[in-house]
Amino acid sequence: MMDPLAWHRFAERLGTRYPFIQAPMAGGLSPPDLAVAVAEAGGLGSLGTADAPPEAIRQQAKAVRARTSRPYGINLFAPRAPVADGDPGPVLGLLARFHAELGLPAPEVAEAPLPDFLKQVEVVLDVAPTVFSFTFGIPDASVLEAMRARGILIVGTATNVREALALEAAGVDAIVAQGSEAGGHRGSFGGSFEAGLVGTLALVPQVVDAVRLPVIASGGIMDGRGIAAARMLGAAGVQLGTAFLRSQESGTVQAHREVLREAKDESSRITRALTGRPARAIPNELTTTLEEAGAYLPYPQLHGATRALRAAAAQRGDTRFMTLWAGQGVGLSREGPAAELVRALMAETEAALAAVRD
Ligand SMILES: Cc1cc2nc3c(=O)[nH]c(=O)nc-3n(C[C@H](O)[C@H](O)[C@H](O)COP(=O)(O)O)c2cc1C
Repeated sequence: MMDPLAWHRFAERLGTRYPFIQAPMAGGLSPPDLAVAVAEAGGLGSLGTADAPPEAIRQQAKAVRARTSRPYGINLFAPRAPVADGDPGPVLGLLARFHAELGLPAPEVAEAPLPDFLKQVEVVLDVAPTVFSFTFGIPDASVLEAMRARGILIVGTATNVREALALEAAGVDAIVAQGSEAGGHRGSFGGSFEAGLVGTLALVPQVVDAVRLPVIASGGIMDGRGIAAARMLGAAGVQLGTAFLRSQESGTVQAHREVLREAKDESSRITRALTGRPARAIPNELTTTLEEAGAYLPYPQLHGATRALRAAAAQRGDTRFMTLWAGQGVGLSREGPAAELVRALMAETEAALAAVRD
């Protein structure tokens, strides 16, 4: 049920001025600079370190702590039961053309596409951020117990009520309810991702009614109107990703920023063609070619196969082959310093709430 105090209570729990969370964004998009700027402005900054080796996570955590004593979070991808690898032939055949075009060595399937989760966890326990958040599933109980014992708040991601109940049963402290508008990967782990394609407006109140934990609304929230609406739905906080992609301190490369500036409500799609997991991004030659050919590999095998191309394309500013993450709210995104965005969001939220009061 709607708890009018949930908003303030959750901010108090986080130790922030407002329960606004800058989404962790893997792939270098949410570097320490961004987390520090958001934390200093009164929100919760987050490091998206799911694809970072353990030592890089330590360095990033140190970089945050060197510049702020405010709360921040670290995010990882919960490991999933291993899926049998697919035949990489068709995908590598298509990628070979693109590699040749950019003068890259022939594509290959990476041996270990992701860092070791438990080694990443060891570093998180060691650096002890305020929040440990995760997506794609639920880590083992031993991991969650260790986090709790270190006094770290645990935040899991759900895309439907079933996943939210599973997270509550696992003992998390709060739940990010990720609507289908969201940019980046779907967090879905309970059944097919299509079944988790619930929009934020429908998802948040149903999760709020189903669990007794603070619910963090996420997906398509771009300004004070969205934040005020999330609060009306019973959310105790909000998590914004796409809104920060054009912030000065984010790791978004210039070519991606230019695409985002022009993007609109209908520009993004959910595709498996980037990493093997459904994720929302702006389509390009890479995604449409793999999709049209029906060439597919499971996650993280496809992630490992496309990574070299996507990284090289990002370096060169070649939008045909890069990862152009974006949520459906992208048409409302703004550029500028992240602190200015947080301040504007706070002011807009107050104004939106005041406007409907009488
Ligand atoms: C570029 C990008 C990368 C993301 N990476 C992560 C991630 O590493 N971990 C995670 O839990 N969520 C990740 N997300 C999802 C966000 O946590 C959040 O659910 C989403 O950004 C909310 O929707 P919005 O993009 O419309 O604000 C990412 C989102 C974006 C846009």
